[in-house]
Amino acid sequence: MMDASPRTAGVAAAAVQRCIRPPCGASFSVRDRIYVCGTCGGPLEIVVPLPRASEAAALTAQWRSRAGSLKPEDRSGVWRFRELLPFDHAAPIVTLAEGNTPLYDAPRCAKYSGVDALRLKHQGCNPTGSFKDTGMTTCVTHAVLLGARTVVCASTGNTSASLAAYAARAGVQCAILLPRGQITSSKLAQSMDYGAIVCEIDGNFDDCMRLIQEIAEDPSIYLANSINPFRIEGQKTVAFELMEQCEWRIPDHVVVPGGNMGNSSALGKGFEEMLQIGLIDRLPKLSVVQAEGSAPLARLFSTLNLDSSQDPAEIPDELAPVENPWTLATAIKIGSPVSWKKALRSVLRSRGRVIAVSEQEMADAKATIGRDGIGCEPASATTVAGIRKLAAAGFIRHGESIVAVLTGHLLKDPEYASHYHRGTLAFDSQTKDGSARLMQGSFRNAPVQVAATKAAILDHLRRQST
Ligand code: F0G
Repeated sequence: MMDASPRTAGVAAAAVQRCIRPPCGASFSVRDRIYVCGTCGGPLEIVVPLPRASEAAALTAQWRSRAGSLKPEDRSGVWRFRELLPFDHAAPIVTLAEGNTPLYDAPRCAKYSGVDALRLKHQGCNPTGSFKDTGMTTCVTHAVLLGARTVVCASTGNTSASLAAYAARAGVQCAILLPRGQITSSKLAQSMDYGAIVCEIDGNFDDCMRLIQEIAEDPSIYLANSINPFRIEGQKTVAFELMEQCEWRIPDHVVVPGGNMGNSSALGKGFEEMLQIGLIDRLPKLSVVQAEGSAPLARLFSTLNLDSSQDPAEIPDELAPVENPWTLATAIKIGSPVSWKKALRSVLRSRGRVIAVSEQEMADAKATIGRDGIGCEPASATTVAGIRKLAAAGFIRHGESIVAVLTGHLLKDPEYASHYHRGTLAFDSQTKDGSARLMQGSFRNAPVQVAATKAAILDHLRRQST
């Protein structure tokens, strides 16, 4: 059970949780264990008092200087931005030194996408190998503050691996709900190793998500999915870190994969807060890329009237779910994303796009990212595939600066990479005669069998270089 009287120290006194639906806008304490608006059921976001513009220069200097400190709260690429987090100095920070991830130049990806230059912000270089860690540090810290004994989530594999790790750090019980047979063995292995109670159910991620929200009605349970706005608070710091790495020169485009839509919501919030403070004077266009078979938001987006007179605050009330979502990028095999409203709001405010890419486009983009020496999991590669499409459509223009956010590490799904390069990557739909339909990888690089002699190997290398 939660403590009857949770400690009050630790959360920022002036921060609130607020409903994002315009007619409602109800506010709640940051000490309330709620995940949706108690008045209308709408999504919640945290409102933190923002520093004044006159403090901006001192703030950025302080953030930067903390990166060289040895204190755990400074070494974290999330907590070093703590002036914009809804906690105070008494917060029992649960950290694994997350964040501070690299921003790489990716010349081969740029060429492949038909753009001048492209940078990749690799969130797969986090402690558990995905971007989830930046949100889990704040979320589990909040759970500990509220005295939670059990933290839970539904997951396609990365949220659960991350939650399991942070719960282990905090010494809190962790239970995760997974769609059986639909997450990679690497992600599952992580959760088992970190000591989580792993519950596999017959159903897809959307079924898990529905069920976990029911389970979280029990007062002993703390829900750590991105519907919880404390996750978004941590993940928004990626935008601050990115701007620091760009030396505060605003990219024209930031492109992210879309699944449950927490990541795009969080990046949007981070950029909007920087705009309000005056750290930046315009928003990068935030675009979200989904996999074709799991693209409910891209489908909705394509129906919106996007002439320049449209009020970007007007968000449709309903999203038609994809009933049987499908993609080989299991991380984003989601038909009914919980945070679609927040994400769409950020996309519209920044005048970005939501699009979908095919399995073939994603697979070839992933191999191209690999050729830049940067591995990622399939879901992350939707970004480069999406940039190629957006450039071909003229939405990304010559000379514009672009950052793609890679969300997970290559080793999260080595089977996919191996099958792609060996030419055995199968769509799980079958052809009429029952044989598997194989993907035609354009950048295959399969191992070869070579005789175990110096001459044979050197001869092979010579033939490869001609
Ligand atoms: N990329 C990866 C590698 C992911 O694991 C996810 C989501 C996304 C992109 C999409 O991000 O949901 O914030 O839009 N994975 C969740 C999970 C759903 O359970 O691990 P999103």
